[in-house]
This record gives sequence, C-alpha cells and structure tokens, in this order.
Amino acid sequence: MSDFTCFLYVFSTYSNGSGSDSDSDGNSWPPYRSPQEKEEKIRATGEEAPPTQQSARPRPDPRGIQKMASLKDKLITPVTQPATKPNNKVTVVGVGQVGMACAISVLEKGLCDELALVDVLEDKLKGEMMDLQHGSLFLKTHKIIAGKDYAVTANSKVVVVTAGVRQQEGESRLDLVQRNVNVFKFIIPQVVKHSPDCIILVVSNPVDILTYVTWKLSGLPKHRVIGSGCNLDSARFRFLMAEKLGVHPTSCHGWILGEHGDSSVAVWSGVNVAGVSLQQLNPDMGTDQDPEGWKQVHKEVVDSAYEVIKLKGYTNWAIGLSVADLLETIFGNLCRVHPVSTMVKGMYGIENEVFLSLPCVLGSVGLTSVINQKLKDDEVAQLQKSATTLWNVQKDIKDL
Ligand SMILES: NC(=O)c1ccc[n+]([C@@H]2O[C@H](COP(=O)([O-])OP(=O)(O)OC[C@H]3O[C@@H](n4cnc5c(N)ncnc54)[C@H](O)[C@@H]3O)[C@@H](O)[C@H]2O)c1
Repeated sequence: MSDFTCFLYVFSTYSNGSGSDSDSDGNSWPPYRSPQEKEEKIRATGEEAPPTQQSARPRPDPRGIQKMASLKDKLITPVTQPATKPNNKVTVVGVGQVGMACAISVLEKGLCDELALVDVLEDKLKGEMMDLQHGSLFLKTHKIIAGKDYAVTANSKVVVVTAGVRQQEGESRLDLVQRNVNVFKFIIPQVVKHSPDCIILVVSNPVDILTYVTWKLSGLPKHRVIGSGCNLDSARFRFLMAEKLGVHPTSCHGWILGEHGDSSVAVWSGVNVAGVSLQQLNPDMGTDQDPEGWKQVHKEVVDSAYEVIKLKGYTNWAIGLSVADLLETIFGNLCRVHPVSTMVKGMYGIENEVFLSLPCVLGSVGLTSVINQKLKDDEVAQLQKSATTLWNVQKDIKDL
C-alpha cells in the first residue's frame, strides 16, 4: 500500500464520520457472523477477533459465493484497531502565502501527526493538500487532509488562523478590521465547535485586534487565545542585531513588545549578548543622539514588512518559521518565553481589554504566564499609547 493510498484511505474513514463501527462498505466490526460465534471465539482465544476493515477471513456473500481475499488482506494481518483520534493535530485556516508557509514549517519540524487545511477556495485548497501529500515520503506527518467543511479540523490541538481579506485601496484600517471581523465571525465558532479544547493562534492582521475578536467570538479562556504578535518583529530585530554584531541571532537578545506593527516598542534596556547590556556600553542606544544609530534598527523592523511586500508582494517565510517555533514550544510543553500577544488589561496600568505582546511563557495548555519585564517609564508610556490606539479601534467593532 503506498503512502498516498494510505491518505486516501484515511480521508474516506474520516468522511464517514469516523469512530463508527462500519467500514466504507458498510461492513460491521468485529466481523462475527452471529453472537454465538463471537462468544465461542472469545472463549477459545481469550480475546476478540482482530479489528479490521477488510477481515483476513473472506466475507460471506449474500448469494453464498465467498469473496476472494484482496491483496491487502493477504499482506496484512490486523492486530488491533488503529488510533481513531490524533494526538497532535494542527489546523491551518487560510491556505494563502502565510498559511502555507506555516503549514510547511510545521511539517518540516515534524510537530503534528495530522494536519488539516481549510479555505474557501476549493481548488486551491485541494491543490495545496495534494502537493503536500505528495511530499509525505519526506515528512513525519502521516495524515494531511483538507476541506471547506470544518469537520476536517475536529480534534485539533492548535488552530492557526491566517485567513483574511487584504486591505483595499482607500480602505480605512477600521473598515478592514470590520471586514475581517465578519470573516472571523464565520471561522471561529466553527473552529471551537469541532475542537472545543484547542489553542487558537491568530496570525491574520491586524493581529492584536483580531486576537481580541477571536477571544470574544470563541468564548475560550484567555490562555488559549494567542496572537503571533511581536514574535516576528523580535525575530527581525535579533536578525538585524546579529548582522551588526556578527553573532548568531540566538545569542542576540532583544524584545520588541506592544503592538505588532507601527507602534511596537523596542526594549533597549534589555538588549544584551551573553548578559552584557548593550545600553550600558552605549547609554545613548535607542535615542536620536546615538552615533551608532541603533534606533534605525527598530525602524527597519517596522519598515521591513512593507519593504518585503513591496519587493515580493507578501511576507511569508519568516512568519511561517516563527509560528512553527511557537508550536514547537506548545507541543513540547517547553515553557519557553516568546513575545506574543495576550490580554494585558491590568498590566502596566492598561485599563482596557486589549491584546499586546509581552514576554509570555507557553506550554501544552497554552499561555501560562507573563514575565514582568522591568520597563522604563517611556517604554511603559509607549505601551499605554498602543493600548489606547487599539482600544479606539476595537470599541467601534460591531456585533461581537
Ligand atoms: N502576524 C504576522 O506577523 C503576519 C505576517 C505576515 C502576514 N500576516 C497576515 O496574514 C494574513 C494572510 O496573509 P496572506 O499573505 O497569506 O494572504 P492571502 O490573501 O495569500 O491568503 C489569505 C487566505 O485566506 C483565505 N480566506 C479568506 N476568507 C476566508 C474564510 N472565510 N475562511 C477560510 N479562508 C478564508 C483566502 O481564500 C486566502 O487563501 C494577512 O492578514 C496578513 O496581513 C500576519
């Protein structure tokens, strides 16, 4: 049986509702001809007949003619029924540039035993599913499925939402938010219906506001609704820092917090390599007086998305890799700290229900805690300004 046949088989099991006792031909399991036969078998062997969709024993034909055992019947002796539910299932909603970059990054890391893709574009969805399936030989995810119907997402542990509409010319930010809210109003209830215990990771923009929207629409506790937030911004900052210092980004520590985008906050006081504070070496770091122009590094972080979009039309690889990094922490219950978007009401004097990025501990149950970074007064003021900007947009969102 080829891997591909295996996928098709799994897909058909899925679509018959799974968990039922019938195979796709409607034959019941286990394959006893009568209750008496079952009792006799169990008494003789001490166990039930091996579960199988295509029993090694030829099936009785209603006309009395015995069916020939198939090649698969001859090849395989079933011992027990395979698992009917995935252990580590990931769903990606939206198979655009970002969704597929997330999907391939998650697959490459071998994080999930099942991947489901959802979109409204059926041909694109099927094409992406088939293309990934054809790479199965090189992956460790044995089941890749896709569908418009959210039934394919059932039993997901993490649902990554990358779906959304793009800003149109002349469209205000608030109008874009309202259009994406309308998209999310369809997506989120379906996600929760089929995976009530999942963690939702929101990637679509404006990510902080849409994470708030997801939290409201889902009814999930706040630790299970996370925005990718400044995870990418911080990665960009650490890359640029690494370029300047000639040290690998993993050894360059720096946090971009607050709103993902224009009003993000660079925490200069925390920038360090091997515990050596760069601001102590250069007290003007991050200010206009700095002769080394470190402030420009943060500006480049903010501008880099616009630049990449101008050059290639969209950004996708870095966000895909950063999402896979978050999922690695969640699935491995690693308790690593990531700059992701969480509900910050009550922190740093913020009074409204807004989502902003702070250093957060992630684990298998979601976002378990926030690290209380000691921020300077001007950094706190910038966070509060971001919070006010976001709240001014959020408070006008209709029908949440
Ligand atoms: N948070 C970040 O750091 C970050 C980084 C890059 C991009 N993004 C955001 O990610 C989102 C996706 O970007 P993209 O480049 O992949 O866009 P895209 O247009 O290529 O893909 C969006 C996909 O969403 C699908 N979609 C639309 N409505 C849907 C619905 N109701 N249900 C399911 N699918 C639906 C579309 O069919 C499309 O395939 C955008 O909002 C973008 O701004 C976020």
